[in-house]
Amino acid sequence: RCSVSTGPCFWGYRFWTHSQASPHRWMRQALPTAAAVADLFPPPPDLASKAHVTSQDEYERMYRQSIEDPDAFWGDQASSYHWETPWSTPIVDYNFDVRKGPVQITWFPGARTNLCYNAVDRHVLAGDGDKVAFLWEGNDPGVSSAMTYRQVQEQVCRLANWMKSVGVGKGDDVTIYMPMTPELPIAMLACARIGAVHSVVFAGFSAASLSSRMLDSSAKLVVTSSGVRRGPKVLNLKQIVDEAIALCAAKGHDVGTVLVEDHQTALNRSDVPFTPSRDVWWHDALAPQPAECPVLWLDSEEPSFKLYTSGSTGTPKAVQHSIGGYMVGSGATFKYVFDYRPGDVYWCTADCGWITGHSYVTYGPMFNGATQVLFEGVPTYPDAGRMWEIVDKYNVSLFYTAPTAIRALMAKGDEQVKKYSRQSLRLLGTVGEPINPEAWRWYHEVIGDSRCPIVDTYWQTETGAHVLAPLPGATALKPGSATFPFFGVQPVVLDDNGNELEGPATGVLAMKAPWPSIMRTVSGNQQRFEETYFSLFKGYYFSGDGCRRDEDGYMWITGRVDDVINNSGHRIGTAEVESALITHPAVAEAAVVPVPHDIKGQGIYAFVTLMQEHAYPPEEALKKELIATVRSTIGPIATPDNIHWAPGLPKTRSGKIMRRILRKIASLEESQLGDVSTLADPSVVETLLSTRGV
Ligand code: WTA
Repeated sequence: RCSVSTGPCFWGYRFWTHSQASPHRWMRQALPTAAAVADLFPPPPDLASKAHVTSQDEYERMYRQSIEDPDAFWGDQASSYHWETPWSTPIVDYNFDVRKGPVQITWFPGARTNLCYNAVDRHVLAGDGDKVAFLWEGNDPGVSSAMTYRQVQEQVCRLANWMKSVGVGKGDDVTIYMPMTPELPIAMLACARIGAVHSVVFAGFSAASLSSRMLDSSAKLVVTSSGVRRGPKVLNLKQIVDEAIALCAAKGHDVGTVLVEDHQTALNRSDVPFTPSRDVWWHDALAPQPAECPVLWLDSEEPSFKLYTSGSTGTPKAVQHSIGGYMVGSGATFKYVFDYRPGDVYWCTADCGWITGHSYVTYGPMFNGATQVLFEGVPTYPDAGRMWEIVDKYNVSLFYTAPTAIRALMAKGDEQVKKYSRQSLRLLGTVGEPINPEAWRWYHEVIGDSRCPIVDTYWQTETGAHVLAPLPGATALKPGSATFPFFGVQPVVLDDNGNELEGPATGVLAMKAPWPSIMRTVSGNQQRFEETYFSLFKGYYFSGDGCRRDEDGYMWITGRVDDVINNSGHRIGTAEVESALITHPAVAEAAVVPVPHDIKGQGIYAFVTLMQEHAYPPEEALKKELIATVRSTIGPIATPDNIHWAPGLPKTRSGKIMRRILRKIASLEESQLGDVSTLADPSVVETLLSTRGV
């Protein structure tokens, strides 16, 4: 049995129980049951024989080296890249324990390199300049273009030169608010070339969200596009940027310059608001600039970029990433987890506005010199066959998407899939939330014709790169499990008191040491960094996710244990939605909880208490107004799925809202309400139960 799944022996015994007095106690239980064996998908032999890692044994050996001898393991991984100045050893130095001093992480000490050079110039210099970097597919079928690595280099250099000409340089913050066109990764790479710190804001956030991110990072320059087409909708991005700049100005922050890419397939120039004293068209700016621009060599630990993400409390945090460690981490995970080989055509459907679009569009694939599809549109436009049409059009071999997209397409039936051949596919990937086994099987059987392994990659904005993921040539898969740690990652399952649990266990997921691509701080707020990730469980990085390790050592993420909703793979803080709701004059109080949702994974369910003068239920129009308020405060991605009018909320006598009870009410699980006698007014529960759906 162990030859089908060698994982159990290794993970179940040699590693996890090495400190136990009697490891044999549960090693016997670690043998898979009949049901577990049926649920195991071993690597396809033809793929395994050619893979970078060909067996579980090889994975174990490499993993062990990555932990026991990081100098050798990561030194070897890093040798694929150009370093202007080499690192000194030890290759990593860190403190995770707030009791011993500030949390700090250093990888590749003393080294200098450049992300843009390694993503672009290195390939051109090696003779691969004519290789296609981007196969761009526009929102509307028939609108497409291709760009080679040499062409990317030229554009990046011109843009970097222009940025310098307007006074943007090392350490300056640049906000990028663009659709998925090649200009978006080009803008990121131009920043990286000159040491400017990019902050990409997903071009679906509202003007208010954009402005708060611009203010927080004191953006000097905004790079945007005239507009974007997503499905049948057109969004005037420049207008949103103008509103955001006005909001910044009202708070005393002046954004000096706006660079506008003229995205003509989305919007006519005449419909784009333009302030000549401040705004510059992309093509006018770049044309006169030289096509060569020297690279600025940067210290391995200098900031590369920041990306805002939601947490339990407060405003979104600026997660700050490094240079050397981020490069090696995103590059190595891309190579091993997708088993990338030259000749592959890779397509990740994520937008560069999220971390997936950073590590697995702009950086990881380009560090490996990959050819990739960039897609501006949505999976269901003009119909639900679009993704597979694109797969056939470009012969995509590696395809990476989110469970929510898989479920949405699954709901449209198999016909739209079967119309296309999909023969080029050899590997499928998912990210963003736990994938339910039904969606996993559909992805495997219908999309991959039972031929392609599925890599379920668990990671976070904060982790920078995959931390739990199978290796397709080595790992036997279990639908719904992100399986085992990537090289260098040391996950632990903790109980509520912070004790490490051994063997099969359920608890929270934490990491006991840093891997190269872990975030370095919350930009400008080290205290918040330490409070959020390192204070609850001393000495560990706390992920915020619940986790189960099964009898075979496989890891199963059970979802967030904090007040973060995972809505269609987007992280939404409940506190953010609540703050948005109470800006409406009719709202006295709001409590937002996640609720299971067939397509989105989790829906956003808002309980709303109105100001005294309002009767229950209020006019239907108020619901629309509240939804509009959330959309304009945060963006359409935070639109509540349900609004439940709540004359009272369940509170303890000290006034704390009992969210546990609200979750049960929202999820129709009233039989599991538990003890409500400690509530200040238990009758509010009855009222809420009887007003569901009103
Ligand atoms: C969730 C996205 C289960 C998790 C890269 C995490 C997942 C949050 C998976 C991070 C997965 C991501 N299985 N859950 N394969 N991937 N998550 O920062 O709750 O947008 O904490 O990064 O998504 O979301 P973020």
